[in-house]
Amino acid sequence: MKKIILVTGGAGYIGSHTIIELLNAGYDVIALDDFSNSTPEVYNRIFTITGKKVKHVDFNLCNRPAVIEFFKNHKDIEGVIHFAASKSVPESVHQPGKYYYNNINSLLNIIDACLQFNVRNLIFSSSCSVYGDISSLPVKEDTPLGQATSPYAHTKQIGEMMIRDYCTAYPDFNSVALRYFNPVGAHVSGLNGELPLNAPANLAPVMVNVANGKTNELVVFGTDYDTRDGSCIRDYVHVSDIAVAHLKALEYLMQQKNKLNYDVFNLGTGNGVSVLEAIASFEKVNGIKINYRMGPRRAGDVVAIYSDTTKSKNILGWVPKLTLDDMMRSAWIWSKQLSKENNPA
Ligand code: WQD
Repeated sequence: MKKIILVTGGAGYIGSHTIIELLNAGYDVIALDDFSNSTPEVYNRIFTITGKKVKHVDFNLCNRPAVIEFFKNHKDIEGVIHFAASKSVPESVHQPGKYYYNNINSLLNIIDACLQFNVRNLIFSSSCSVYGDISSLPVKEDTPLGQATSPYAHTKQIGEMMIRDYCTAYPDFNSVALRYFNPVGAHVSGLNGELPLNAPANLAPVMVNVANGKTNELVVFGTDYDTRDGSCIRDYVHVSDIAVAHLKALEYLMQQKNKLNYDVFNLGTGNGVSVLEAIASFEKVNGIKINYRMGPRRAGDVVAIYSDTTKSKNILGWVPKLTLDDMMRSAWIWSKQLSKENNPA
């Protein structure tokens, strides 16, 4: 009997890459997405890559009656991977209400439905932004969390605490929170990748847009930081490695390998990379000069953050395999694929 996994936010960037890995590993998947920041076209891409159709439902998880009705009609779900959330750091600063309402209510409805319908395994999409601006690097999972630097980050801190408290109250309910560092890149096939519906704010998609001419120049937000080249340091990790980590986390819970019924794991490479080094990697592997200039710091940026990956390696058996060059190469291949699709000869 195939195990059925509900993937919320399944039409999103990390959600869609995770569905590809789940289908290839033999799981059955139901994707849930309200297309507020994605398009149903992604499900066709998953079919092209895996040869498997994705069953999907299309509603917002803040609609509690719809969530309960869905779980009532799908009693065979064995686990939930919850990606669905608003995720733009700068947008959350300007629209905190949207973030607290959407990210907290959707999670609350998912947890309550899992408990009501005895779905015992929940994987929560968390973020390295829960650490805040900290100086002790690399960050370990037990590094004390700092002050959240945005409402987005705060919703992830609250989400982790909600799940932890539910797991304390309900010992049969099992969950892991996966703290993503900076996901970058696209599927090795070149047929799926990041599809930002709005103007991207993250470094890699902005770089791609400069390379393909959609954006005139890249502004490096600050080169006067106390780092090796003055620009911010981040832990970039390939989206496909992040997707595989979800498979590992699911196996960890469903094979009851977990000693605790709530735990958190860092999903990074452990390598700190500066903005200028990321630009150099993109230029090197793609043979393209990126037009960039040095600009002022961006509010809310932490100077440096990168992960200690020991726990994910030792407990989940997860080791990221793809390099920074792989990330930048696959991001550009995906951009060229999109251009070809949007401008057929
Ligand atoms: C990276 C670096 C910018 C754009 C992201 C997600 C967050 C979380 C962590 C998952 C920073 C610099 C960027 C540009 C630049 N992931 N930059 N010029 O802020 O680390 O956070 O990863 O939850 O949700 O937002 O990522 O790619 O925006 O910035 O200089 O045009 O690139 O200053 O130093 P960030 P980012």
